[in-house]
Amino acid sequence: MDVTRIVIDTDPGVDDAIALFLAVASPELDVVGVTTVSGNVNVDKTTLNARRILELVGRSDIPIARGAAVSLSGVPGNDASEVHGDDGLGELTWPEPSVFESPENAVSLLYRLATEGPLTIVAIGPLTNLAHLVTQYPDVVTEVERVVVMGGASYHGNVTPAAEFNVWADPEAAAVTFAAGWPLTILPLDVTHQATINDDDLAYFRSLGSEVGRRSADMLEPYAQFHEEWRGDRDLIMHDALAVYEVIDPTAIEKEGVLVTVETGGDHSRGATWFHRSHRHEDSNVRVGVSVDNERFVRLLRERYRMFG
Ligand code: RIB
Ligand code: CA
Repeated sequence: MDVTRIVIDTDPGVDDAIALFLAVASPELDVVGVTTVSGNVNVDKTTLNARRILELVGRSDIPIARGAAVSLSGVPGNDASEVHGDDGLGELTWPEPSVFESPENAVSLLYRLATEGPLTIVAIGPLTNLAHLVTQYPDVVTEVERVVVMGGASYHGNVTPAAEFNVWADPEAAAVTFAAGWPLTILPLDVTHQATINDDDLAYFRSLGSEVGRRSADMLEPYAQFHEEWRGDRDLIMHDALAVYEVIDPTAIEKEGVLVTVETGGDHSRGATWFHRSHRHEDSNVRVGVSVDNERFVRLLRERYRMFG
């Protein structure tokens, strides 16, 4: 089996947590780092949550490096507590984690890991850290094997009608990241909305008897209630876990070559993403996710959760 060496740039966030659990439970992946960014909650909370998550799965070996507290335009962290809970992880009770954050900052860790061997960056939060990375170390674009981003939307955003959260939170960073020229795969809402789990899956997680399974179901409850109020059902969109799934099995998600544009101006369109679809763009360095078989995705997610014993 080929093992892909990855670093996850994240703003945990309950769906980020599921993505991290999936990543550490998957033998196809070697998680060599986690970098945090302000997003769903501020970077103090996202960094604490990353510590909690990696302690829960016994992976104190994975360095956690704190990243950007504010966007490129100086906007501090958002507060998506109505989606992820005030603490960003569904407001469960957690012990003080013994896993500590690295003295290294996110950009330094990302660059060091990129120069130490083949690296795939899986970015599942606002792209501020990646924008700083390519600005400070332009050669990283040829060092990194691939970048997989959960972000953007072709037809309708989830913060405004135009903008998806990760791009909305830092449009300038998304524009820099998307224009960098590295091999880039983008998974927008178009495809992440096809990747959902439901109450049967939460019951399955609980039935496994593991702390990871139980806490996953518990932390997703506010997320389920948000979905019910927002979309009228409790089908939980696994935005970030889909980005990890794409690296586990790139063939599992249909993609096409595109050019991509980010709106950084506009009163109502700021954070919009446009994917220029044409056969002429098949040789583009940018691929956009189009479709996924959700039954196959959920089957793998359930199988990997059994790894937690
Ligand atoms: O729009 C979905 C994205 O925004 C996910 O990464 C979720 O965690 C939030 O950060
Ligand atoms: Ca996220």
